[in-house]
Amino acid sequence: MDTLLLSLKDDFDAAVDKAARFIRAGEVVGMPTETVYGLAANALDPDAVKKIFEAKGRPSDNPLIVHVTDESGLFELCRSVPTAALKLAERFWPGPLTIILKKKDAVPSVTSGGLDTVAVRCPSHPGARALIKKSGVPLAAPSANLSGKPSPTTFSRVVEDMDGRVACILDGGDCDVGVESTVVTLASFPPRLLRPGAVTLSELSDVLGEVVLDRAVLNPLEEGAAAASPGMKYRHYSPACRLTVVRGDLGRFAQTVAPVLAEGDGMMLFDGEDPPFPCPVFYLGPENDPAEQGKRLFSVLRELDDAGLSRAFCRAPSEQGFGLAVCNRLYRAAGFEFM
Ligand code: TXA
Ligand code: MG
Repeated sequence: MDTLLLSLKDDFDAAVDKAARFIRAGEVVGMPTETVYGLAANALDPDAVKKIFEAKGRPSDNPLIVHVTDESGLFELCRSVPTAALKLAERFWPGPLTIILKKKDAVPSVTSGGLDTVAVRCPSHPGARALIKKSGVPLAAPSANLSGKPSPTTFSRVVEDMDGRVACILDGGDCDVGVESTVVTLASFPPRLLRPGAVTLSELSDVLGEVVLDRAVLNPLEEGAAAASPGMKYRHYSPACRLTVVRGDLGRFAQTVAPVLAEGDGMMLFDGEDPPFPCPVFYLGPENDPAEQGKRLFSVLRELDDAGLSRAFCRAPSEQGFGLAVCNRLYRAAGFEFM
């Protein structure tokens, strides 16, 4: 398939118009959002949604997030809308928060991965918002990576994965947040954080009261256990190279890594840190700035592979605040390998 590449920087309206025509024709469009790039199609059209799964090579039991322009989308897609959902929407939308509720029958089961719930998000990126409006339908959109790879946060990484696999890709520049939206479910009580993101656990608790942190956020799924969020059972965000997270300060890092470092290995440090060994170094951002670490993480993971590393040792970031999202993605990318 020929993939039409369109920039939102040149003629925003013309690019959105063309992309929306593909959506209405049941095709898939690469779409920028403030978190990561997504692969969008009409969420209410099962055939269009199937094409997303094919383009990504995604397992069909892994449900998609449906993107809308305001809280009216909750009423369109969800069986009932509790006050808690409206409070969240008022405080955090448009922005990087996804809310899960029981779905209406209008949401096809391919979109919800066979579940009776639906994940709804209202993005703030002007390109995403214009595309949803112009298409006139809610857009199902997972991250625009091939299944298993780190999510793309720049146009060129989407093209790398999706050129020839989708009808069109919109260039909306680099993503601001860099990790995917926070996912909270209100389909059960108390509310449960399934995936951390830029909207933090404490911000959610401010609005909702008690919010349970799902065990799978920081731990590998136990064998035989059911995943609250199907996405958590798959190997995720992984570079091809082996990744090991090293806990403690730079001194402990040096001591721990020295005896095992091999030819072809590299490391991920915080900005300003002097490499303790002569090998390729990648910088994740300042140690005390999780937002910057989140913004860079997926690009750096892809750079490890571009550099052909066989293994990378990574200094462990803080798990506090937005750091919870950084650690969730990093630990999964590392297959929960720690030293
Ligand atoms: O920031 C984002 O959310 C990006 C951009 C493109 O908007 N989208 C995204 O979608 O990250 P995706 O498909 O890569 O991740 C969706 C996650 C998966 O882990 C999936 O299992 C979970 O949300 N999910 C979706 N619907 C669900 C549901 N009904 N119940 C439980 N988990 C659900
Ligand atoms: Mg994804």
